[in-house]
Amino acid sequence: MPLFNVYPLYDVTPVSAKGVYIYDENNVEYLDLYGGHAVISIGHGHPKYVDAITNQVAKLGFYSNAIQNPLQKQLADTIEALSGCEKYELFLCNSGAEANENALKLASFHTNKKKVVAFKNGFHGRTSAAVAVTDNSKIIAPINAQQEVEILELGDLLGLEKALSKNDVCAVIIEIIQGVGGLDESTAEFYEGADALCKKYNTCFIADEVQSGFGRTGDFFAFQKYKISPDIIPIAKGMGNGFPIGGILIHPSIKASFGLLGTTFGGNHLACVASLAVLKVIEEENLMENVKEISGYFMEKAKEVPKLKKVKGRGLMLGLEFNFPIADIRKKLIYTHKIFTGSAKNPNVIRILPSLTVKKEHIDLFFKALIKELN
Ligand SMILES: Cc1ncc(COP(=O)(O)O)c(C=O)c1O
Repeated sequence: MPLFNVYPLYDVTPVSAKGVYIYDENNVEYLDLYGGHAVISIGHGHPKYVDAITNQVAKLGFYSNAIQNPLQKQLADTIEALSGCEKYELFLCNSGAEANENALKLASFHTNKKKVVAFKNGFHGRTSAAVAVTDNSKIIAPINAQQEVEILELGDLLGLEKALSKNDVCAVIIEIIQGVGGLDESTAEFYEGADALCKKYNTCFIADEVQSGFGRTGDFFAFQKYKISPDIIPIAKGMGNGFPIGGILIHPSIKASFGLLGTTFGGNHLACVASLAVLKVIEEENLMENVKEISGYFMEKAKEVPKLKKVKGRGLMLGLEFNFPIADIRKKLIYTHKIFTGSAKNPNVIRILPSLTVKKEHIDLFFKALIKELN
C-alpha cells in the first residue's frame, strides 16, 4: 500500500541518533539543528530519558483516564515548580494541535462565546478549530472554514479592541514568538495591552507555547518576558523529546467539570515519564542557562554572516533572514555539510531549533558551512 503522499521528503534515512547527532543507514553523521520541528529538547537518546521510558513500559505503558495515575500529578507539580506558573491546572493530551483544540473549546465553554481572534502568519495546528485560527488558507478545508475567526496584524492593538468590544470573542490565540511563520515577535506594549483587553472583555488569552515552551527561549515560557497572565497555555513539542505528549495549563478561574474535556491516550503512563525525564534533565543540566549562553554566542557569530538581513527569535528558537529564498542553501547544508536546519512560511528564513544541550562547537560548524555556501 503506498503512503498518502503529503510530505516532500529529503533523501535521508535516519536510523539512530545520539545527542545533537543523527546517523543514517550508512552511518553518515548529521548535525541536527532542527530537532524534528523543535521537538528534541534534551538531545536524542538521553540515557535518563531512555531509562525512564524503558522502565515504565516494562511496568505499565498505558491505561485509560478512568483510573488513578499519580504520574500525571507528579508531572503537573514539576511543570509548576520549573515554570513558576503557580495555581494553574493541567490537562494532558497528545499533540500541539490537540492542545490548541482543547484550549479553544475550553475558552468557548468558559465564556459562552464562539468567535476567535488570531494573528497574521500564526500557526496553531491542522485540526478543526486549530487550523481555522491558523493563517494559511491552503490548509483550511471547507469543513474548517465554518469557525468564526478574525485574523489581525501582529501588534494591532486598536484592531484587537475593536474586535473584542463586540463581546462575541471567546479567545485571542497568539504565539508570543511565531514559529512556522518565521520568528516574528511583537512588543511588550502589544502583549500586555492584549492581555489587559482580554481581561476587560471576558475573553480568554491563549498563549500558544507549543513550540516556544519548555525552556526553548531560555525562560520556561516565552510569555514570561512580559507582564501577562494567560488564561490557557498550550504546550507540546519539547515536552516529550519525541514522545507524543501535549497539554494545556489552565488558569483556576476556568472551572473543570466531569466530561468537559477528555482523551483516551492523553496523559498515559509512558508519556508522563517521558516528560518527567525531560524536566529532570532540563533542571539537572541547567539547560535554560545553556540556552541563554548558546543563544548569545549564536547572535555574535551571526555578525560574521554575509548578506544577512537580520537574526530573529530568542533563545534557541532562532531564524536567519536573508533578502532571497534559502531553500537551495538548506539543501546544500543537508547534502554537502550534513547539517539539518528548518524552513519557515517566510521563504527567506532559515530556522535553527536545536536540542537545548547544543554546544558552541556545533554552532561553529553551522556558521562555517553557511558562510561557505553564501560566498
Ligand atoms: C505554535 C504551534 N502550535 C501548534 C502546533 C501544532 O502542533 P502539532 O504538529 O503537534 O499538532 C505547532 C506545530 O508546528 C506550532 O508550532
